[in-house]
Amino acid sequence: MAILKIARMGHPILMRRAQEVDDPDAPENRYLVHNLIETMADARGLGLAAPQVHVSKRVVVFQTPVDDPERAADEPAERELTVLFNPVIEPVSDEIVYGWEGCLSVPELRGEVPRHAAVRYRGLTLDGGAIDRTVDGMHARVVQHECDHLDGILYPMRMTDMSKLVFESEFHHLIEAARDPDSHEEDTEEELVDG
Ligand code: NI
Repeated sequence: MAILKIARMGHPILMRRAQEVDDPDAPENRYLVHNLIETMADARGLGLAAPQVHVSKRVVVFQTPVDDPERAADEPAERELTVLFNPVIEPVSDEIVYGWEGCLSVPELRGEVPRHAAVRYRGLTLDGGAIDRTVDGMHARVVQHECDHLDGILYPMRMTDMSKLVFESEFHHLIEAARDPDSHEEDTEEELVDG
């Protein structure tokens, strides 16, 4: 396995529509998925799409927090890994929500991005099995971010308010400004989607 070089905004591979995958189970696709997972972990991303490692195929990997009512508030949520080939996404409501995202192909920046609040997505797993899920919250945001990569779309292209495109190192200013003084909640750092 290998840690792959990540393409950055401006590279043409990030701007084109990636190709459907006929056989997720083929050895070269298994190898690609292993490398995507390893590269994602190394870069501490929540998700990674094949075009981000210079491979124009419709496959993404991403992690989503597992709902665990037993979990203590200070304990990080466990994450479930999804491997998804040839995804198809559809919104399941008209509701749009804004949330902060980062992207391994747009390093050092954060942006507030509108996304569908809930989506249904379908696709194939690594062994060719079918995935059909309806999700909301962070899961819905991660899926939309990663699948956008397969259509040549980076999150800044989805933004509607460019005053909300900031450097990571300045991000705390926005969190502080947005914090309700009556709230005891911690900042929203763990809500960030970075893929
Ligand atoms: Ni990304």
